[in-house]
Amino acid sequence: MQLDVLGTRRRTHRSGELRKAHVGEKVFLAGWVDRRRDLGNLIFIDLRDHTGVTQVVCNRESSPEAHQKADAVRPEFVVGVEGDVVERSPETVNRQIPTGEIEVRARTLLLLNEAKTPPFAVSDDKTAEETRLRYRYLDLRRPGMQERLRLRHRAALAVREHMNEHGFVEVETPFMTRSTPEGARDFLVPSRIHHGKFYALPQSPQLFKQLLMIGGMDRYFQIVRCFRDEDFRADRQAEFTQVDIEMAFPEREALFEIIERLMEKLFALVGARVTRPFPHLTYDQALERYGSDKPHLGFGLEWSRVALPPAVREKLHVDGPVKAMRVPKMSEISRSQLDRLQDFARSTPADWFSYFKMGGGGVQSTVQKVVGAEAVNSLAASVGAQAGDLVLLLGIKNLAAESDRRAGASAEARLREASGQLRMEAARRFELIPPDGWHFAWIVDFPMFEYDEKEKRFNAMHHPFTSPREEDLEKLESDPAAVKARAYDLVLNGSEIGGGSIRIHRQDIQRRVFKALGMTDEQARARFGFFLDALEYGTPPHGGIALGFDRIVALMAGESNIREVIAFPKTASAVDLMCESPAEVDPRQLDELGVKIK
Ligand code: AMO
Repeated sequence: MQLDVLGTRRRTHRSGELRKAHVGEKVFLAGWVDRRRDLGNLIFIDLRDHTGVTQVVCNRESSPEAHQKADAVRPEFVVGVEGDVVERSPETVNRQIPTGEIEVRARTLLLLNEAKTPPFAVSDDKTAEETRLRYRYLDLRRPGMQERLRLRHRAALAVREHMNEHGFVEVETPFMTRSTPEGARDFLVPSRIHHGKFYALPQSPQLFKQLLMIGGMDRYFQIVRCFRDEDFRADRQAEFTQVDIEMAFPEREALFEIIERLMEKLFALVGARVTRPFPHLTYDQALERYGSDKPHLGFGLEWSRVALPPAVREKLHVDGPVKAMRVPKMSEISRSQLDRLQDFARSTPADWFSYFKMGGGGVQSTVQKVVGAEAVNSLAASVGAQAGDLVLLLGIKNLAAESDRRAGASAEARLREASGQLRMEAARRFELIPPDGWHFAWIVDFPMFEYDEKEKRFNAMHHPFTSPREEDLEKLESDPAAVKARAYDLVLNGSEIGGGSIRIHRQDIQRRVFKALGMTDEQARARFGFFLDALEYGTPPHGGIALGFDRIVALMAGESNIREVIAFPKTASAVDLMCESPAEVDPRQLDELGVKIK
């Protein structure tokens, strides 16, 4: 096929821009062929670029050469069109698109490039994700992807503007570094010059941002890629982007305000209003009421603990902890719905589920038959249930069967996890999750440590540089499980969109925390010696946060999967289908690196 050259021609407009006001103008547009319709003497081309589509008409009579070329074009060919903007006749106006009142009569059509038949039509939005990812460059031509990446760009601009206004300076930190513990595995880069040694890609710039505070930068931020080798989910990628923030002489509420105002600006980009200040919930409250440390607060379902008298426990065959949740105005719910909820409850770590309905005439339930009206009435009263409500009960049945003292804690953990899952399932089944609205919350007072049953030791719940609360310092050695951290998460509609803490700025406390984590002084020095040294040279109190940028943009765009807001994401099994990475490498390269494949 004979191709034309663009030469010195410049686009006068983009394809989505032309309106009735442009009628009579001579324009030059260029883009991709979205669709082509051949009516014999007239060939219509929908010309697409990132702004939209314009209908181009090639008339055999008035511009035979353009018509002849139009005959050859196919979807995704790249063309340029020089022509006149004309008003469409009333019966051909297309109200679905902003350019629908006009069309461009081609004088000249330039064939700038041809295209193979694409594996899917760009306009078809039912293409399997695997195909979309393999041909991401075609997928990116879709209006949806275009909009989302442009939204991401605007969000990044808003972040930079906001942080700059508050005196934060963007500083780049290294990608080839040492391991930073954020709870995932590291991606390692072998060194060619130093055989047997490896750089680690940062799981976050945590230590560097703290070193910047020691270095007197005062207020730092960075829109930065982080790398974590962990199991993937819809809201996780191996490489993802954080808005990383740190400030010296921090005051938690001042930091919260800066972040809340940033959220206000970001969500304004999608026309949403954010109500601030955001509510605070302690970690313990969140788990007790919602069974989750990232609760969706867009609907009201809350668990409360119920104290059952021993006789009632015996009759119900439940000897572990029990929680109840009132579901307002759901007493009319069908038996089959409740059966399905019961099936779901069976799939959770809890092993006892029941319910009763508050009918107009009082309580109706099988529970009542077993334990009597009085017991059920007192249960109902304890959760404030009223006529028309449904009450769900969840518990751990066989506490006695669990052997040691830890089993008590694990019964609690099971009930907690189950209650969180059942709450979300009930909300979904009963359609209680509002389709819109932004429900932010700060979760505060996290435990400093969590016990790893397998490894039989404590791990840092946030990371080991998080400061314990002052009043808990004395418990670091005697009762680590009771120590609360000065850590916080930012939660939005059930998603964790950020996490941070006030840091340890004293070397002695940092060493005690490493010790509580089971690290000897030597081990701590081997891993973080440079950092422990730095702490000794006048470290100011400091603290910060990192926001999950992909997650925030996905929520703004109304997407549940962060891949939708990442130009070139990886699949759930960490594969880039387009580049086919990870890939094998030349044996010579391995040799140079001193690496041997097992
Ligand atoms: P944290 O590990 O909580 O904190 O990470 C901060 C936020 O980053 C997002 N996030 C992810 N997003 C996509 N894919 C992933 N694999 C992924 N992992 C985390 C989440 C999370 O809330 N250095 C600390 C921050 C600090 O203490 O200041 C840190 O990285 O939204």
